Amino acid sequence: MILAPSILAADFSRLGEQINMTENGGAKWLHIDIMDGHFVPNLSFGPGVVKSVRPVTNQFLDVHLMIENTEKYVEPFVSAGANGITFHLESVSDPDGCIELIRSLGAKPAIAINPDTSVESVFKYVGKVDMVLVMSVFPGYGGQKYISCVDEKIKALREYAGNDFNIQVDGGINESNIKSVHGLGANIIVAGTAVFGGDVKANTKRLLSLCGQVSGR
Ligand code: DX5
Ligand code: ZN
Repeated sequence: MILAPSILAADFSRLGEQINMTENGGAKWLHIDIMDGHFVPNLSFGPGVVKSVRPVTNQFLDVHLMIENTEKYVEPFVSAGANGITFHLESVSDPDGCIELIRSLGAKPAIAINPDTSVESVFKYVGKVDMVLVMSVFPGYGGQKYISCVDEKIKALREYAGNDFNIQVDGGINESNIKSVHGLGANIIVAGTAVFGGDVKANTKRLLSLCGQVSGR
């Protein structure tokens, strides 16, 4: 299992330091939520934050775009240092074109679906993207409660995609539910509040160990 701490919940006055704590705790990815106030009600960061974060960590920079006009912003985020770009199926009119664009720039494409989008709607992209993100809250804010009816979607996607495919789950993951979400078939798990609330390195290690991972440096 790969843990992807979401910096949305970080203390931004100590961002670099807290990112290092997640990396030293064993988190191989860093999840960066991009919100535009249109596709979702909230605002977060732009490519400038990705550019500042890039030199402070070796983690895979996992950029989750929750925006309109997705295609317009892919290049700025990849140039800033993103390794992976996840876009929402609900916000893009030509998903195949967007996947190609992301690949042509050298980044790994992924598709996200909201809790009320059917899992079957991403099946046809499984062979084309590097990952599918199953949202377990409605995107826009950290600290929300996990919506348990997505359990079935994770299971169905794992069954459809087989063992080698990356399935990410994002929203409301904590110490109490991470093991079951992993067991349902998610192999890349995002956590914001559960990582950055309190001792960041200890939280990272604990969440990984709950899924049977020995980690840390
Ligand atoms: C929600 C974001 C999430 C969020 C997760 O729109 O996509 O990545 O930061 O936060 P927690 O883990 O606090 O639910
Ligand atoms: Zn996210």
